[in-house]
Amino acid sequence: MKDSKYPNETIRILNERASVRRFSDRPVTDETLNEILESGLHAASGGNLQPFSIIKIRDKGVMEELVKLGNQAFIKTAPVNLLFCIDFYRLRRIAEIEKAPFSATDSFAHFFIAFEDTMIAAQTVSTACDSLGIGSVYIGTIFTDPDSLASCRDLFELPDGVLPVVLLSLGYPEVKPPVRKKYGKDIMVHDEKYHIPSDDELIQAVAEKYEEQRLEVSEDDERIDIIGEVCEEVEGREFAEEVVQEIRKRGYISTFQYRFGLHYRADQMPKKNKELIKLIREYGFRVF
Ligand SMILES: Cc1cc2nc3c(=O)[nH]c(=O)nc-3n(C[C@H](O)[C@H](O)[C@H](O)COP(=O)(O)O)c2cc1C
Repeated sequence: MKDSKYPNETIRILNERASVRRFSDRPVTDETLNEILESGLHAASGGNLQPFSIIKIRDKGVMEELVKLGNQAFIKTAPVNLLFCIDFYRLRRIAEIEKAPFSATDSFAHFFIAFEDTMIAAQTVSTACDSLGIGSVYIGTIFTDPDSLASCRDLFELPDGVLPVVLLSLGYPEVKPPVRKKYGKDIMVHDEKYHIPSDDELIQAVAEKYEEQRLEVSEDDERIDIIGEVCEEVEGREFAEEVVQEIRKRGYISTFQYRFGLHYRADQMPKKNKELIKLIREYGFRVF
C-alpha cells in the first residue's frame, strides 16, 4: 500500500465501495459464489444462532418476477441475486427435534437481533464481493411494499417463520460507479455523549454531501403541488403554503423535500404500517 492514501487494502475497498447497478456479461462462477457465501456465513450473529437463510437466484424467470415486484429493471441484468431472509423456521425445527422450548417467533428481542444478523451477513457478503471485484446493490423496496412482500411467499415457497428482508443483486461491474458522498465524522460520530448539532452544522453537512443535487423547477412544475399536498396532510395547511411559496421563489426542490415529499412520501409511508405488520404476522412472526 506504499503511496496509497489508505493504510491497507481492506480500508481502500471499504472507502471506494459504491452500489453497482450495471453489470457486465462476465459470469460469476459457482466456485466464486460459494467462496463469497462462505464469508457471509462467518459473520457475527447474536448468540451464534444464525437465524437467517440466503436464497441464490440465477433463474432469469424468477428475476423477471422480482423486476415486476420492485420495478427495478437492473435486477435481471445481474448474473446472481441473493435473497436474505430472517429464518426462524430452521430454529424452530431444531428446537422441536432437540425437545427445547421455543418462543422466538413471539419475541420482539429475537426479531430485532435476527434482523440485525441478517443484514450483517448481507453486508459481509457484499464486502466479500467487493474484495473480488464483484459489485452489488441492495434492493429493499420489494420487502416494504405490502403487495410485493406478499408475493414473495409463493415465489420462493417460504415456510412459516421465514421473512425476506433484502435482496442483493451482484455481478462484475460494466463500469465502476463513482463513490457517493457521505456525511463526515463531524456530524456522524459523537464523543462520549450525543452532541446535538446546530442548524448551521446541519446546513453545512447537507450542502457538502448533496452539493449540486437540488432539483431545479419552474414555478408551474406539478411536483411542487404534490409536495404541497404531502406537506398539508402531514404538517398542516400553513406549513404547506410556506413550503410551496419558498420552492417557487427560490426555484428548486431541496434534497429532503424530494426524499420525503416525492420519493418516500411522508403522507403514504405510515399508511403501509397496518398491512405490513399484518403480513409479517402471517409470515409466522406472531409478536406483531
Ligand atoms: C437497506 C437498503 C436498501 C436499498 N434499497 C435499494 C433499492 O431498492 N433500489 C436501489 O436502487 N438501491 C437501493 N439501495 C442502495 C442505496 O440507494 C445506496 O446504498 C445509496 O444510494 C448510497 O449509494 P452507495 O451505495 O453507492 O454509497 C439500498 C441500500 C440499502 C442499504
